[in-house]
Amino acid sequence: MDKNFALELVRVTEAAAMASARLMGRGDEKAADEAAVCAMRLTLNTLDFDGTVVIGEGERDEAPMLYIGEKVGKGKPYPPIDIALDPLEGTTICARGDTNSLSCIAIAGKGSFLHAPDTYMQKIAVGPGLKEAIDIRESATKNLNRIAELKKCYIQDLTVVILDRPRHESLMEEVRRAGARIMLIRDGDVSAAVSTCRPRSGIDVLMGIGGAPEGVLAAAALRCMGGYMEGILKPRNPQEIERAQKMGISDIHRVWTIDELAKGHVMFCATGVTDGTLLNGVRFLPGGAVTHSIVMRSETGTIREITARHVFDKKPDYE
Ligand code: FBP
Repeated sequence: MDKNFALELVRVTEAAAMASARLMGRGDEKAADEAAVCAMRLTLNTLDFDGTVVIGEGERDEAPMLYIGEKVGKGKPYPPIDIALDPLEGTTICARGDTNSLSCIAIAGKGSFLHAPDTYMQKIAVGPGLKEAIDIRESATKNLNRIAELKKCYIQDLTVVILDRPRHESLMEEVRRAGARIMLIRDGDVSAAVSTCRPRSGIDVLMGIGGAPEGVLAAAALRCMGGYMEGILKPRNPQEIERAQKMGISDIHRVWTIDELAKGHVMFCATGVTDGTLLNGVRFLPGGAVTHSIVMRSETGTIREITARHVFDKKPDYE
């Protein structure tokens, strides 16, 4: 895959982030999401690839744009690629003006991403050097003990990020009993998973159940950063199991490792919408805006942080 795509992708997430950031704190999740989706689609369609959305806004009948199966980019004869995207990860966060919403996208060769249905996934994600510590089938306590061992620290020094949901009450109890620290987040587990690879974030591990599509996006980013992740689908009803089967998943209980969630040469890009542990949010200035993005490639492990100044008089932010 052409390495230049990585730098092209940043324009895609920048456009989506600026469009949704305008609607920060307005209490309208749908409008913020729609703005991000429109901007992302517009910019995606200027790129020289024959792209297919495999992780998107939903299935064709439930999403007008960027639905699973939608073709994006300039099309043939450009190279075929698969795309996982979330134009606004953390719609509620953005609508509330809270922290950690971002726009993100990952691309890879055909068949590289797990075609995850829109259901839940149990996840565990850690930064580099901790793969040996992780087994999602084991208890949180065992995983934490092994992480502490490998990190040569006390379990009390570890910070576990968990989505603040009633379904995580027993997980929280167990983590507290084990002695580790917890950072509860209202939303946005892609940012949390990726933050495990950034020592300055103070986050050591993500545990718990979140969206399955978000799991694939997080895996793509962690592949680029040398982190590790495992996931198990957690469908909520027989319809979701059926959906998964239709998408080619026969064993619903299987453990998906990071290389099965996102394999091959992967590129990942995210731009902050609101401030967070990973990225700064969009700052609007007179006549323009400043965005903060991270762009990475699994093939080389290069991680670029890009702070961009956009001047709307010269180039409208939706182009
Ligand atoms: P959206 O951007 O689609 O609102 O997702 C936000 C999010 O918090 C994800 O980061 C997370 O994986 C998922 O929702 C958790 O789902 P739920 O809110 O149903 O617990």
